[in-house]
Amino acid sequence: MEIADAVTGRRSIRKFKKDPIPETLIREILEQARWSPSWGNTQPWELYVITGKAMEAVKEENRRRILDGSPPCPDIPMPLEWPDRMKARYMGVGKSVLTALDIAREDKESRSRYNADMFHLFDAPCLIVAAQDKSVSSRYALIDIGLILQNICLLAHGKGLGTCIMAVSIAYPDVLRSIAKIPEDRIIVMGVVAGYPEGDSAINTFKRQRTAVDDFVSWIK
Ligand SMILES: Cc1cc2nc3c(=O)[nH]c(=O)nc-3n(C[C@H](O)[C@H](O)[C@H](O)COP(=O)(O)O)c2cc1C
Repeated sequence: MEIADAVTGRRSIRKFKKDPIPETLIREILEQARWSPSWGNTQPWELYVITGKAMEAVKEENRRRILDGSPPCPDIPMPLEWPDRMKARYMGVGKSVLTALDIAREDKESRSRYNADMFHLFDAPCLIVAAQDKSVSSRYALIDIGLILQNICLLAHGKGLGTCIMAVSIAYPDVLRSIAKIPEDRIIVMGVVAGYPEGDSAINTFKRQRTAVDDFVSWIK
């Protein structure tokens, strides 16, 4: 696959087939993704690959918590305030998802069912959690973790898999700490779910939006 096709063709997948991903394939992706750049080659990422019964337990507990009304408490707080233009984009993706699922804005029941499905991690067969050592105080490590996660998504896409980076997958860090044995002295940064995409479902094919290059690029000559 051409690099440009991988970058523009990757999209967040929110409906997966039941099939598990062969461990050899996940390993191949990680063998390649480890060549991601990082500040001073520090490679601050630590990854936990959760599949099988452990994955089922994470999904169930995550959904149970949100249905119980437990407030998410991620290690890195989710940003709530955004400048208006970014908030509009955030609302836009929510609208696209609901439209794809044919859920009306006022249909609270369907919306909370979708939210529960999301906390059930769209029933994906695999979750890769990225963590870092708490003693790493620099925010540069977060950039490095973003880079490896994007490379994982691109490599997965190139191998016929779908992924979705998911803040809700790390909403309850104690769930991950207990099931995936992630030590207390690690910060759980982000998670990405993976699996074989339900190719033609509306939630995986709706039109995505991006701003034009000239809206965010300044050319200084
Ligand atoms: C840090 C981060 C967290 C995200 N968390 C979620 C999430 O919890 N649920 C979800 O459905 N999508 C999540 N996404 C996916 C974004 O909504 C998606 O990347 C964005 O709308 C652009 O769409 P695309 O990935 O299909 O190109 C997240 C993406 C990132 C980078």
